[in-house]
Amino acid sequence: MGEKKLWGGRFKESTNELVEEFTESVSYDKRLAPFDIAGSVAHVKMLEKQGILKPEEAERIITGLNKILKEIEEGKFRWKKELEDVHMNIEKRLIEKIGPVGGKLHTGRSRNDQVATDVRLYVRHEIEEVLKLLKRLRLAFLKQAEENLGVVMPGYTHLQIAQPVLYSHHMLAYYWMFKRDADRFQDTLKRVNVSPLGSAALAGTSYPLDREFTARLLGFDGVTRNSMDAVSDRDFVAETIFNCAMVMMHLSRLSEELVLWSTEEFGFINLPDAFCTGSSIMPQKKNPDVSELTRGKTGRVYGDLVAILTILKGLPLTYNRDLQEDKEPLFDALDTVKISLKVNALIVEGMKPKADRMRQQASKGFSLATDVADYLAKKGIPFREAHRVVGEIVAYCLDKGKGLEDLSLEELKQFSDAFEEDVLSLMSVEGSINSRNVIGGTATEQVKAEIERIKEEEEV
Ligand code: ARG
Repeated sequence: MGEKKLWGGRFKESTNELVEEFTESVSYDKRLAPFDIAGSVAHVKMLEKQGILKPEEAERIITGLNKILKEIEEGKFRWKKELEDVHMNIEKRLIEKIGPVGGKLHTGRSRNDQVATDVRLYVRHEIEEVLKLLKRLRLAFLKQAEENLGVVMPGYTHLQIAQPVLYSHHMLAYYWMFKRDADRFQDTLKRVNVSPLGSAALAGTSYPLDREFTARLLGFDGVTRNSMDAVSDRDFVAETIFNCAMVMMHLSRLSEELVLWSTEEFGFINLPDAFCTGSSIMPQKKNPDVSELTRGKTGRVYGDLVAILTILKGLPLTYNRDLQEDKEPLFDALDTVKISLKVNALIVEGMKPKADRMRQQASKGFSLATDVADYLAKKGIPFREAHRVVGEIVAYCLDKGKGLEDLSLEELKQFSDAFEEDVLSLMSVEGSINSRNVIGGTATEQVKAEIERIKEEEEV
């Protein structure tokens, strides 16, 4: 209270304190300060170039803004809730520092195009960060794949053992999830990186602004083409949060597998100690809390997505104050995704497959049954018939407590004459894996080639 509002001209009474509390955003939008100042500096340079500000006025404003940025960086800036938001806190401080000429900063601009610009600059910066983190995670999967090329494991469908696969193949499946995530963020950048400055409150401005000039100074690829859309569009915020939600969904799937794999029952993986926690009562416990929390935090990012879509759905053109509510979900989604990517990259870098245990499980669950059916089919038996024969063999094995690989040629022949000596060598995990020699298949040759292709594409 007590601070005269920058917009206070037409008001007789001061703002109700609870309303100030309710409407302020500076407590969270202050993180936009560096982008707000960058936008203002570009705006002032343009105003000067257009002869709207005198060179000495522009110079004083820019010097003042840079000093304010320093105050903020050094933690010396006093943020005031009664000044509502980051924009007015900075503008008010500018006027305090350099006098009435500071009031010229806002010429030909509104907070509506200003905030849209700030958020776009912020999102662009954050996406660049997320892209780096996604790359680090992808390379961690690539390294796992490369360093453990001989490791075999059961592949699953319905969480039932299905067919043996290479552990490297499984790792590269995750590589692709995070590659698509990066592609999505890259694509979103095209829509983020457009300058709304010059749209002013909603209709454009009567000043002869050079919008393209400001856009260039700020590294935007171009300018928005409809002022009304420009001040009310937050599609890029929703899209960014969606991309974050998708990354979290992928991380959550990874987490689910790591939680399962680190159980006694699976015993497929050793997670680095530094990423697990103990129990306050059970001394033997090593819990995969980081993976569990990643799975849990996915929920909040989904919440952020639902929040932004709901905020936007009822808005008439153009700017409405509801739009201020875009920031917390956006910040939360990006903060959550960044820390989740960081910590999960470290986990993937540090985890160790337990090759013996995986190998042992790889042939369980009649995982070679498809290979036997394919064998019969290649001998001319229609696949459906072969499928039935092998089904009967599996039932026989279950009855006798045997595995497929335990059967003698004589036993097999009871089910079909087509079985010959060569079936015995085929019934091995490695044989099965290496027979899947199609592009995208799990054969060692294919996975090796894939690793090389990815290394080239990632330039590592
Ligand atoms: N803090 C506001 C927001 O985040 C800035 C724009 C305010 N504009 C206005 N017309 N009240 O949306």
